[in-house]
Amino acid sequence: MKLDIALLAGDGIGPEVIDQAVKVCDAIATKYKHEISWKPALTGAAAIDAVGEPYPDDTHEICASADAVLFGAIGHPRFDNDPSAKVRPEQGLLKMRQKLGLFANVRPTFTFPSLIDKSPLKRERIEGTDLIILRELTGGVYFGERGRKDNGNTAFDTMTYTRAEIQRLAVKGFEMAMTRSKRLCCVDKANVLESSRLWRETVQAMEKDYPEVEVSYEFVDAVAMRLVQWPKGYDVIITENLFGDILTDEASVISGSMGLMPSASVGEKTKLYEPIHGSYPQAAGKDIANPLATVLSAAMMFEDFGLQQEAEDIRRVVNKSLAEGIVTEDLSEDAKAYKTSEVGDWLAKNVY
Ligand code: IPM
Ligand code: MN
Repeated sequence: MKLDIALLAGDGIGPEVIDQAVKVCDAIATKYKHEISWKPALTGAAAIDAVGEPYPDDTHEICASADAVLFGAIGHPRFDNDPSAKVRPEQGLLKMRQKLGLFANVRPTFTFPSLIDKSPLKRERIEGTDLIILRELTGGVYFGERGRKDNGNTAFDTMTYTRAEIQRLAVKGFEMAMTRSKRLCCVDKANVLESSRLWRETVQAMEKDYPEVEVSYEFVDAVAMRLVQWPKGYDVIITENLFGDILTDEASVISGSMGLMPSASVGEKTKLYEPIHGSYPQAAGKDIANPLATVLSAAMMFEDFGLQQEAEDIRRVVNKSLAEGIVTEDLSEDAKAYKTSEVGDWLAKNVY
């Protein structure tokens, strides 16, 4: 297969983890005789520094015409502590999600047999966890009306959802549930928020189209608690943008390290694959960040291209590296910590 992949390394550890994913993908391409053409493009703080904005038009054109986008991370501490900054790296990510129509963010949470005891949660609670949070990604408070009034002393961000936005996300949730254990949980705050009541009403009306799917409705605060108490109680979760942002960070630690969980953003056309961790600026340039979440995001990409064997090979080699202790310092404890680049080299060599 011939694939054009836009490569958006971004900020912080982004370039380092992306490099490892490229090594692994190239090795897979050689093994299965695919031709991958990488199309690097600027985004985030790196793009602000180069051209003054975090998601330049050139980058959008490259992404929109590619078969998929592989994304590292964006964000830089110099913007975080400056509330007056006019342009921010994160705006690039939001603009990209919106312009590419990436309305659904697929964030799986699963455990690795060799890492169960690295999780902050007890083995018996998490072993066998396998859930997917489907986060709405182009609506809600992230894209609502915002501003200041009262001479800057009052600030507001509004959470707005249309029935159509909820429906298109819920369709993906129902479809995903049909391919798994047929359980779907709609997470909202319908006891307080009007937008959540629209979520509930919309999803309830869709239940008749998927008679085999067992749907539950839970409040987000309770789900935050149950996710760490008994994650095996969930299969597919659908939720709005901000709730999903928070719950997916929470869920990511179940596996033992935030550096492990991949994600896919899907929607109208081009799909985007990225680790769920951020730019981890403290580690940037040190060759110590865990590249596995990005490598596993590439596995999701192959799977979506219908290249199941390729995806399985990547997952197998990742499991092998974990079992053999070829890991970065977040997972090494007292044993030797490997460099980011060493882990990438090892994976690329062993994926054959
Ligand atoms: C994520 C990130 C982003 C988000 C930030 C960087 C804007 O936290 O992808 O989860 O909040 O969506
Ligand atoms: Mn987040």
